[in-house]
Formats: sequence, C-alpha cells, structure tokens
Amino acid sequence: MIPTSLNRRNFLSAGLVAATLASRSQALAQSAAVTMPDESSVPFLWGAATAGHQIEGNNVASDIWLLEQVKPTLFSEPSGDACDSFERWHEDIGIARSLNLNAYRFSIEWSRVEPAERQVSFSALEHYRRMVVACREAGLAPILTLSHFTSPRWFAAKGGWLHHDAPTAFARHCERVIRHLGDGVSHVVTFNEPNLQLLGEWGRTPDPATRKTMADMLVAAARASGSDRFSLLNTGDAARMVAPVLEAHRLARKAIKAVRPDLPVGMTLAIPDDQGSGANSLLEDKRAKVYAPFFALARDDDFLGVQTYSRSLIGPDGPLPVPEGAEMTQTGDEFYPEAIGASIRYAYAQTGIPILVTENGLATEDDSQRARFIAGATASVIEARSDGVPVIGYLHWSLLDNFEWFAGYGPKFGLVAVDRTSFARTIKPSAQILAGIARSDLSR
Ligand code: BGC
Repeated sequence: MIPTSLNRRNFLSAGLVAATLASRSQALAQSAAVTMPDESSVPFLWGAATAGHQIEGNNVASDIWLLEQVKPTLFSEPSGDACDSFERWHEDIGIARSLNLNAYRFSIEWSRVEPAERQVSFSALEHYRRMVVACREAGLAPILTLSHFTSPRWFAAKGGWLHHDAPTAFARHCERVIRHLGDGVSHVVTFNEPNLQLLGEWGRTPDPATRKTMADMLVAAARASGSDRFSLLNTGDAARMVAPVLEAHRLARKAIKAVRPDLPVGMTLAIPDDQGSGANSLLEDKRAKVYAPFFALARDDDFLGVQTYSRSLIGPDGPLPVPEGAEMTQTGDEFYPEAIGASIRYAYAQTGIPILVTENGLATEDDSQRARFIAGATASVIEARSDGVPVIGYLHWSLLDNFEWFAGYGPKFGLVAVDRTSFARTIKPSAQILAGIARSDLSR
C-alpha cells in the first residue's frame, strides 16, 4: 500500500464456449478432487462488487481502521460510517436486484468474525449468513471474498502474513465461515489482489517521503497495539509476502473444499491491459514478476477473478505515461474501457481456467463517462466470450460510492451515489445501462 504517485493503483498499493467447458470439466473429473456444477446450466453472472471495509462502517477491530486513526497516516480521511451497509445491506441487495443483476460480490470482515484471536463472534457469522440467504431469495448469486485487504488488528500486530502461523490462522477462519454460512454461496474468493503492491511498485522508484510516512504509520500502529510490528497485505516488503499468501490461499482452498467440495474457489488479481511499446519493452519482465507466481497456483483453482481498470503501456524502462491528450478518469487512469477484454484473454491464455471479471470500473464525477465505460467494457467481455474465452461473469466495481482507501470518499466508483450523512442511496443513470445489458444478455 505504498503510493508512489497519484493514480488509482497508487492510492491502494505502495505502492464459455462448450468445447472449453467440456475440456475443463473433463480435466476436473479426472482429477476427481473437485466436483463442479454443470457450468453450461449456470447463467452468466451479471453483478456488482463491494468490500466490507469500504461500505460497512465502523469496522473498528480491523488493521486499516487503526491505520486511519494513527499519526502520521497516509489515509486522507477515516472510513467512519462508510456507507452504513452493515445496517443497510438489505437495501443494497434490493438495489442490485432492481438492476436486473443476478450476482452480488461482498466480503466478510475477518475482524468482525474474530475480533480477538480465537474469540469467535457468532452474531457476525449470522449477519453474513443472513446476507447470503437474502441474496438467494433475491435471485442473486452470493460471491464471497474472504480477504479484501483488511485483517484483524490482532493479526497485523502479530506480524500479519509474515507470521509463521498466518496461513493456518487464515485457513481456520475460512473453514469456520464456510461451515457456518457456505451453503448458499455461489463462488469464493480467498484473496483480493494479493499482487497489488507488486503491480504498483514494478518499474517505479518509490517516493522517499511516502515511504517514510508509511513506515512511521506502521510504527505508530504497532505502538498503539502494544507490539513491535504491524504488517498487512500489500504493505511493506511485497516480495516477502508472496510465499506466505500463496500458502494461505492453498490451505484455505483445501479447508473450504473439505466443507463444500463443490464450491468454486479462486483468487482475484489486479491485471491492467499491459501493452508493450517499442523495441525492448519490459512487458515480459513485468508479467514474470507481477502475475506468473500467482498464475502458477491459480491453475489448480476453479476460476480466476480478473480486475482491470485501464491499460498500461510498457516501455524499455518500465511503465510509460498515459498518452498525451488521452481521456482520463478521476483517479488519473486513462479512460480505456476495452482493457478488460484484453486482460481476460491474457489471463485465460496463461491459466486455462474459467475467468470471472470480479472488478471493472472507473472513478468519475461524470456519470455519462461511466455509462460509456460500461458499454465499451461489457462489449469487449462479450466479444471475448464469443471468441471462446470461458468468462463466467462480469461484476462491476462498485455498487456504491464508497471508501476508496487512501483517497477516502473523493473518488466516485459507484453505480449508486450515497449521501454522506443520511446514507440515502440514489441510483445513477449509468446503472440503468448495466441493467439493460444484463437483461438483454440474460434473455438471449
Ligand atoms: C480494489 C478495490 C478498490 C478498487 C478501485 C481494487 O484494486 O479491490 O478495493 O476500491 O480497486 O481502486
């Protein structure tokens, strides 16, 4: 989470066609370890995505809540009440349904389920179980994320993913969640964008001032927790975190499958549409460092979640600036809707497994720009699907204008606006564009 310059990524990081399905099902049947639902009978998933910390509010036992409060902090404002979705989740599900969507992605806040080590909140587990049941009743496939950047404060104060016990602790948590509420769940994401920091840092020289504030913020959080360390995903030494996080994914997948062998499990990766530019482009270096270790493990998963917001031009020294005169988004990305079509083609070519677009969107105050983005992005996904990429769904980021991490409540990623004091929801016209596309595709 080390921002090096002011674009969307750096706010966060320091830094099916029948033949394909048939071969995939055959491979899975041969491995006998996994039972997949008959995918040809599963409709394409049209949905919207959210994450607990960004919408629930008052997530006080989480690591990022503390980082928002300490001094110094890299967070421009605290998450506070967020969208009050811990209370208003039913309304959110109703909105998704009213938009003809048939899928809703949300995350479980580990720090609510296990606020202190080994102290389980059954009330929190029940809360999330009711959400799964309500999604099903509304005709929405519940897609659950188990780690969307945040972890419990006690976990970070023990050393986070770098503590030797971390993969086991996470797998125990995942098993508990799936045992309690896994029955109606449609798909499970273990980790959201575990490659984000690698992506943000690749080819860039870190800004020393930001680095220092990051280090000081972590020291302050450790001190406030009575510890000598404080470590969380996509923060600190990115390269050191890859192995334990991959091990945590492997153990979590095994634990989930032991409870529900038929439940599709995967992770999501941040994958812009990387385009090599000129001779000696470092494109392949980036691919080897930022995606390859994750692809290697994902090949044994049931699907891969792809999250794309724009394209990235790669020259001989690393990332190139956005071309002059290009249309931009609110967070400094190039407006490039067709990026998602290219990145799902690439991700499928590398892994050979079904692809789920788990996030795609843009920050903008101009809702007509979002409408154009949705039309272009979904067309590129549908084209890839027609060309044989086994893409099983498209989940727009995000349902709501929410807490955009370091950037606070400035960037507007939502299909739905949220009043910052009454929390009243207002559906934007662009949401109706997505609703129309979903309706026409689902009624084919
Ligand atoms: C993250 C979201 C974030 C979005 C927009 C993704 O990297 O998963 O939590 O809000 O991008 O920046």
